Amino acid sequence: MQLWAGHVYALEHLPQYAQLTREWAVRHGVQNITVIDAPLQTHVIGGEQWDWYDISNVPAIAYDFLVVDGPPRKTGALARYPMLPLFAKQLGPSPCLLLDDADRADEEAIVRRWQAEFPQFRTQRHQTQKGAVLMTAGSAS
Ligand SMILES: C[S@@+](CC[C@H](N)C(=O)[O-])C[C@H]1O[C@@H](n2cnc3c(N)ncnc32)[C@H](O)[C@@H]1O
Repeated sequence: MQLWAGHVYALEHLPQYAQLTREWAVRHGVQNITVIDAPLQTHVIGGEQWDWYDISNVPAIAYDFLVVDGPPRKTGALARYPMLPLFAKQLGPSPCLLLDDADRADEEAIVRRWQAEFPQFRTQRHQTQKGAVLMTAGSAS
């Protein structure tokens, strides 16, 4: 069964969560997903060092929709910040980005930093259990 068009690439830094996500996909008959084992590694962004997923096995295609729900906060301050700078050159013409847990102080700081560094994005805040922020650019905004 195809629940959505296109293909999802999911990054997991711990093998047990990668396996759980693969099992979830099989259990729900979801075929258009690839779970990539992506241990945290050091990335240098603007001269700063960050621990984020190893993206060497992520296909070099343009991404339209990015859900940012990891790494967990305990892996470091502003743990989810690297996603946008690392993928900025791999976005489609009208990208959407969804950040979960957006009510946390850490995620609020990440959004402020993304807004300052990527002013082409429009930001909408949504009231969910832990808050969500949707950022859109191009004709999606
Ligand atoms: C960090 S959790 C985010 C929690 C989620 N936003 C919520 O509201 O509950 C999301 C991702 O991390 C993985 N994950 C969940 N708990 C984890 C843990 N304790 N350590 C590492 N990864 C975890 C899951 O497989 C999933 O990919």
